Amino acid sequence: MLSMKNGLFHFSTFCGCAAKLNSGELQSILKKLPHPSHRDVLVGFNTHDDAGVYKVSTHMAIVSTVDINTPMVNDGYVFGQIAAANSISDIYAMGARPITCLNIAGFPEELDKNIIEEIFKGAMSKIAEAGIQFIGGHTIKNGQPVYGLAVNGIIDPDKIWKNDGAESKDVLILTKPVGAGVLFSARKMNVLEEKDIEECIQSAVLLNKSAYEVFTHYTIHGATDITGFGLLGHMYEMASAANKTFIVNHTSVPVFKQSVDMYKKGIKTSITSANLDGVKEYTKITAVIDESFMKVMADPQTNGGLLVSLPKAEAEDCIRDLHSRDLKRAAIIGYVDDFTDKNLIIT
Ligand code: CO
Ligand code: CO
Repeated sequence: MLSMKNGLFHFSTFCGCAAKLNSGELQSILKKLPHPSHRDVLVGFNTHDDAGVYKVSTHMAIVSTVDINTPMVNDGYVFGQIAAANSISDIYAMGARPITCLNIAGFPEELDKNIIEEIFKGAMSKIAEAGIQFIGGHTIKNGQPVYGLAVNGIIDPDKIWKNDGAESKDVLILTKPVGAGVLFSARKMNVLEEKDIEECIQSAVLLNKSAYEVFTHYTIHGATDITGFGLLGHMYEMASAANKTFIVNHTSVPVFKQSVDMYKKGIKTSITSANLDGVKEYTKITAVIDESFMKVMADPQTNGGLLVSLPKAEAEDCIRDLHSRDLKRAAIIGYVDDFTDKNLIIT
C-alpha cells in the first residue's frame, strides 16, 4: 500500500464517478446531437440506457459502452480494479455477456510509472475475472489520472434488459449498498481510516457478474446499474423511461456504514447536490427522512449495484439466489406502479 503522499490522490481533484458532469447540463448538450435512427440500432443514447446496442444478425447484437474515472482511492491497483469493474458493469446492466475491451487512460507525466503499472495490473485482474479479452487501448498525457475501459458485449436481440421495461406491480431489487461516494471523499480528506471503508472497497471491486448471472434465471423487465447519478438519479431514469412511478421504502435501501454520518458531518461529493436537485421535481417524499439519508440515496457510486424490476412472484427466490452468491446485502427496495404525478415516491 502506498502512502497518501505519493499515491494517486496527490494528482486528482475529483473522486471516481463524482467527476461526472451533472446530468442536466449533459442532457441539454446531448439533445442537440442527431439521434440514431438506423433500424439496427436497438438502443441508442436517446433513452439514457447503460450501453448502446446494435443488431448484427437475427440472433446477435453487439453491446458497446465506455467509462473513465478519476481515482476514488489512493492505491493504483485498487483504482484499476474499481475502474475496470465499473466500465464492464454497463454491459451486465444490459443483460449482455462482455467479450472484449480496450484501455482508455490519461496520466500526468510526473506520476510514478510503478503506479501506472499497478493500475493496469488491477484492471487486468478484473478483466480476467470477467472472462474478457483485452485487445488494445490508448493512453495520453493528462493533468489528472483517468482510467477506464471501452467494453463490447454480445446479446440475443430479444433478451435485452432495457431501462424502460419496468411493469406495474414489479418489485425493485438493488444488489449492493449505496453511499460509497461520500466515504471515498471522507477517506481522501483523511476523515476516515482505510479500515472504515473496507466494506465499501470490497463492494466497489466486486464485478456485477454474479448479479447478472443470477438475473439471467429470472424475468427481468428493466435494469440499470447505479453509478454517478446515484440511486435516485438512475432510478428516476428507469421510472421515467418506463413512464411508471417507483415507490421506494427508504428503510429497505442498503447503505454503507458511516455514509449517513459523513453527510451529517458535512462531507460532500462534487455531484450529490446536483443529483438531488436533478430529481427533486419528479420525487415525492411521504415519510420523515433525514436530509443526510436523502444525500446517501443521491450519492455517486462507482461500480454500484444493479437495480432491476421483475415480477413480484419471482422476487423472493431471486433475493435468496443473490444472497447465496457474494451479494449478502441485496434487497427488495420497493415496487413499480402506474404513473401518478411523480416518477419517484419515497416512503
Ligand atoms: Co450504467
Ligand atoms: Co456507464
